[in-house]
Amino acid sequence: MQNIDSYVEKNKDRFINELIELLKIPSVSADSAFKKDVLKTADEVKKSLEKAGCDHVEICETEGYPIVYGEKIIDKNLPTVLVYGHYDVQPADPIELWTSPPFEPVIKKTELHPEGAIYARGACDDKGQMYMHVKAMEFMTSTNQLPCNVKFMIEGEEEVGSVNLGKFVKENHEKLKNDVILISDTGMISKETPSITTGLRGLSYVEVEVTGPNRDLHSGLYGGAVANPINVLTKMIAALHDENNHITIPGFYDKVENLSDEERAQMAKAPFSLEDYKKALDIDDVYGEKGYTTNERNSIRPTLDVNGIWGGYIGEGAKTVIASKAFAKISMRLVPHQDWEEITQLFKKHFESLAPKGVKVLVKPHHGGQGYVTPIDSIGYQAASKAYEETFGKTPIPQRSGGSIPIVSLFEQELKSKTILMGFGLDSDAIHSPNEHFGIWNYLKGIATIPLFYKHFTELSKK
Ligand code: BES
Ligand code: MN
Ligand code: MN
Repeated sequence: MQNIDSYVEKNKDRFINELIELLKIPSVSADSAFKKDVLKTADEVKKSLEKAGCDHVEICETEGYPIVYGEKIIDKNLPTVLVYGHYDVQPADPIELWTSPPFEPVIKKTELHPEGAIYARGACDDKGQMYMHVKAMEFMTSTNQLPCNVKFMIEGEEEVGSVNLGKFVKENHEKLKNDVILISDTGMISKETPSITTGLRGLSYVEVEVTGPNRDLHSGLYGGAVANPINVLTKMIAALHDENNHITIPGFYDKVENLSDEERAQMAKAPFSLEDYKKALDIDDVYGEKGYTTNERNSIRPTLDVNGIWGGYIGEGAKTVIASKAFAKISMRLVPHQDWEEITQLFKKHFESLAPKGVKVLVKPHHGGQGYVTPIDSIGYQAASKAYEETFGKTPIPQRSGGSIPIVSLFEQELKSKTILMGFGLDSDAIHSPNEHFGIWNYLKGIATIPLFYKHFTELSKK
């Protein structure tokens, strides 16, 4: 493919500035206070797809935030790549921990990013990575090198569970018909070691509520005589793991796929420094399920984590009180073959059974999704691998990720196509955390690598 490097070199300042403009709009899907901004972002994404050469770009309304769809069909006999990404972002809080405001992007140089990194909420997840595809498309159409058909589907509700996208996919099989789905919404091992994500974990997210007495009580007058919902809730949560950090929910592991010794040995070959890992997080030791390595714990093993817990008095000073209620939000990361709805039911049953008589327990399921694994012998994987070989000079390592993009398994189920996860982020990008950033090197590398995927995918499809 001609000129990709020189095209990137010539246009990089514009590529960076356009992304910065997109990052200025706070498209937080979880918080309705940002509704206008989320909608405005959809409009901007639409305009960018039009400029990149897509035809029929449209805003597809849903019951929630719209899906931006655009396509360029050059020849019905050629393969079609469907690009998926999301324009919504996570909430920025805790805002006070940001070194620069989350929606006022700035470029900062760091040890890891001597070329600079863009600091803003959504810089990596997923506006930056999504926009690499828009710019790759611009390159291919403006230099007359688009080798196949392309469809773009960019949604605004990924961070809140993609519920309306699921419906849209089910109702639009023909429109979304494709030969492969391409997503950049994951990471890679390091700048020196490219990798392709071959697995995602599933998710079950629930909220629990423990109710004790009908009102908040004086902790002296009643303390010791009635169940304290916070004491009870923490005890119940503690009971969800045993001394080996296995999850105690009966049936939880029944469908978990056990990797062979060979597969585990293969995984262990990926470069990883436990010392660097601990140092980056400022922890003295790692912690987790007995019998598994850190990289296994965060990818091929299921987990249960409290994401938030509250109740009682948390204001200044002290108040002597036994709260009437205590709450927690709990996520379970699941691995292939575990069914998220079944796991949610198993959790509910078990959690309710842990409650002592003096309290009432309510388990409210939020959202979830299935995990995903994809083989490395598919044309899509091979095309991606060849693309990285050209731009990184190295064969990428297949690696399962611990994160979740629940819509990916639904794509396979509904559209019968495989998803290739070409992520260019790094673990240190701090996605979902304060000071999220995306390396300019990574951004430009993504733009340069994506067109090669199209080229190789089209060539391999002909064989
Ligand atoms: N892009 C992430 C998922 C991700 C990040 C996968 C890095 C692999 C590596 C996505 O936007 C995300 O945050 N997903 C949520 C799930 C969703 C249902 C809210 C997650 O994993 O918590
Ligand atoms: Mn994402
Ligand atoms: Mn995310």
